[in-house]
Amino acid sequence: MCGIVGYVGPGQALDVVIEGLRRLEYRGYDSAGVAVVADGAITTRKKAGKLANLEAEIAVDPLPASHIGIGHTRWATHGAPNDVNAHPHVSEDGTIAVIHNGIIENFAPLRDKLIAQGVTLRSQTDTEIVAHLLAQQMISTPDLGDALRAVCQELTGAFTLVVVHASTPNKIVAARRNSPLVVGRGVGENFLASDVAAFISHTRNAIELGQDQVVEMTPEAVVVTDFFGNPVEVKEYEVTWDAAAAEKGGYDLFMLKEIAEQPKAVADTLLGRIDLEGRVTLDDLTLDLDYIKNIDKIIITACGTAYHSGMIAKYAIEHWTRIPCEVELASEFRYRDPILTPTTLVIAISQSGETMDTLMAMRYAREQGAKVLAICNSNGSTIPRESDAVIYTHAGPEIAVASTKAFLTQIVACYLFAMYLAQTRGTGYGEAAGEIALELGRMPSKIDLVLDTSGAVNAIAKKLIDKQSVLFLGRSVGFPVALEGALKLKELAYMHAEGFAAGELKHGPIALIEEGIPVFVVVPPVEDELHDKIVSNIQEVRARGAMTIVLAEEGDESIVEFSDHIIRLPKCPALLQPLVSTVPLQMFSCEMATVKGYDVDQPRNLAKSVTVE
Ligand code: G6P
Repeated sequence: MCGIVGYVGPGQALDVVIEGLRRLEYRGYDSAGVAVVADGAITTRKKAGKLANLEAEIAVDPLPASHIGIGHTRWATHGAPNDVNAHPHVSEDGTIAVIHNGIIENFAPLRDKLIAQGVTLRSQTDTEIVAHLLAQQMISTPDLGDALRAVCQELTGAFTLVVVHASTPNKIVAARRNSPLVVGRGVGENFLASDVAAFISHTRNAIELGQDQVVEMTPEAVVVTDFFGNPVEVKEYEVTWDAAAAEKGGYDLFMLKEIAEQPKAVADTLLGRIDLEGRVTLDDLTLDLDYIKNIDKIIITACGTAYHSGMIAKYAIEHWTRIPCEVELASEFRYRDPILTPTTLVIAISQSGETMDTLMAMRYAREQGAKVLAICNSNGSTIPRESDAVIYTHAGPEIAVASTKAFLTQIVACYLFAMYLAQTRGTGYGEAAGEIALELGRMPSKIDLVLDTSGAVNAIAKKLIDKQSVLFLGRSVGFPVALEGALKLKELAYMHAEGFAAGELKHGPIALIEEGIPVFVVVPPVEDELHDKIVSNIQEVRARGAMTIVLAEEGDESIVEFSDHIIRLPKCPALLQPLVSTVPLQMFSCEMATVKGYDVDQPRNLAKSVTVE
């Protein structure tokens, strides 16, 4: 949530910062702003709306050439998304400019104190107070780094703060608590950003800042301390993907590209993790065998689409391992006093590794003595850093706000772990292990086959453009798929959409069925015990006038006479079916939003990485 960029070096700061903001716009697009330091003064430009508005503003009112700059894309928390509330915010004398990602929780008392002291606030943001607090602090602590460290000690909540000062034209100072911040190390130039994507075309050498750290960055040096000025040793790492991976690569939309990348993302996530005998090897898993053998409860916690992957994983985990497994929204988890013991394993699933609710849930779990396994797509991000173990998904950078390839790879990673557990503990599916592993290996080519249904799926979307509501039904692992289908349609096409467990139809949702309402139904494989039950559900909604769009495996003829539209899925075991059945629903929402003329990659009010509670 909110994207932050900073640059100091011989290049034109504005160009580097704008390029970085373009790559980070997925994090928030309520407004954008930049500040540069030149000739002993700070100049800012900021504009509500997308980055393009800011660029247009700068084209008419150019900024001075500069070798140091900071930039921000905003997802509004405090104050409306207008020009005034856009970042950067500057001190009263104009010498300090600040950008911020997060929420300063003790903002109200600090603001009241500043007002009582006669400071005039120009915006409604929590960020502006930091500029004023820094200006006050610098009277007694003239060094910008020392002043920022002192101010951070006064703040509570989540914040990445990046600061420039008019009289230090070669230094950016930044602080991090709970919100992400990464340094990019170049040669004679350095970068700061919320995400490596911002500087990947300049350098692949990165340093992830830890909790409560301050970085002072000049073209030559990067010095990191804690909030009290004690030096901190940092670890540099190399980003494994390049700039091309974060580009559209010939597609009109990031979402279309990411949907198309799913076969590869799944293959990459499986790579090297299943041996020739069908045994799972998770070499990097840092959970010892004794611990694994004693796990007596698993709780999966996540948000949004990642939560749906957890719901799917629960079916496989319980079936294969016989370990009781709960799935809980991270935002609810720690507020309900969950029962956690040292033999409880909490699995935190997160594409970004920065989602605040998930982070808080896993921290809470660890405080209560449970161990945490992260399933994550972003190397070195906060959630895996703070977990006892991690299984990385290898989806590559996911830029579109609506998650697609990360979702499929989260399911795969959870399944690999479930198989590993069953294998290690000698439980559950034992003999079927090789067969399931083999089937998982075949999924990339099956996902490829589903991608070929895009023409038919897009035609259905065009037909349904004027519908008010769309329903999605599924059972077993098809139920979370139905929820995910509905979530995608809400997120992208702003349509009313609901996902239901088909078995619950008669307990309420059937009252919504009226003439012409579209109902997507995810049908399990023919041999599954739930198959015939869901075929009855299709008949029930059709009899009441619904338009049925049925996702069923190749060769399933039982659904033909009750279906207005059929989307065929390749045959696969029931538990693996979400890896193919989700894909047409992603394509459907993407196309629906496109024909409605909406911004698919950046849907209104949303952000990719939700780093506030
Ligand atoms: C936001 C995104 C969703 C994502 C969710 C969880 O709501 O828009 O696409 O599923 O956050 O994100 P995470 O990075 O934790 O998987």
